Amino acid sequence: MTRLYSTLAHVYHELYQHVFDYDKEYSFYDSILKSNNCKKIQEVGCGSGMLARRFLKNGYDYLGVDLFNEMLDIARTEVKADVFMQCDMRNLSFNQPFDAVMITGRSISYVTDNKGIIDTFTGIHKSLKNNGLLIFGVFEANGIFDNFNDFEQNIEHGNKRIRRISKLKKNLITGWAYDWYAKYIIEENGKISEYDDITTLRAFTKDEILLFLKLTDFRVKVIIDEEKTIPLITEKK
Ligand SMILES: C[S@@+](CC[C@H](N)C(=O)[O-])C[C@H]1O[C@@H](n2cnc3c(N)ncnc32)[C@H](O)[C@@H]1O
Repeated sequence: MTRLYSTLAHVYHELYQHVFDYDKEYSFYDSILKSNNCKKIQEVGCGSGMLARRFLKNGYDYLGVDLFNEMLDIARTEVKADVFMQCDMRNLSFNQPFDAVMITGRSISYVTDNKGIIDTFTGIHKSLKNNGLLIFGVFEANGIFDNFNDFEQNIEHGNKRIRRISKLKKNLITGWAYDWYAKYIIEENGKISEYDDITTLRAFTKDEILLFLKLTDFRVKVIIDEEKTIPLITEKK
């Protein structure tokens, strides 16, 4: 399992403020939630709380869950609200009926086996009120494997420079998955630290994700085809 959300949680928190556009992402969720009158919401894979602060500021009744306490510790410190819970998305069992559950940041990519996907959707199904929404996105397998290149990122955050060198290798044992080998080189006040990380991520073909949703009793409302990702808005049957 990756160290990005444990030993390197602070690096994630700093780096991804420059990788993701959290304002844009928030607007995407907010417009769907508002037009479906969803107030009581759960964010799965909430990470360091970058979306949580926006949901809370705008009056949503919010709960964030994540597998890693190191991420939740940052979220609690940043957001200063007791709205987070440690939980594996494969074991969600909430009795409270949520209007909507969002798996954000394509966090479902970390669940690489079929059973894990079914368990995740089944748990979310139980946590939703009737016609409640499941909103999430996946990496699209064709888009990922057609253009399967190593890459490098360099960002500056305050007085820190974070360089990430990423190498990708197919790992097709459990599905359309790949291993991501990353080297982090962090320079701060003339001091350099280096960390190696490896993680396995799963991509999906559109048919595959639709079948998982059908098997777990979700109806697809909107499916957006992007080059490398598929965002979906689905509804509990
Ligand atoms: C790419 S990050 C996204 C975090 C946050 N949504 C954001 O946009 O910054 C993926 C998140 O999924 C979480 N995660 C990975 N596997 C998980 C699991 N089985 N259950 C719950 N969370 C998980 C990680 O700890 C991490 O916070």
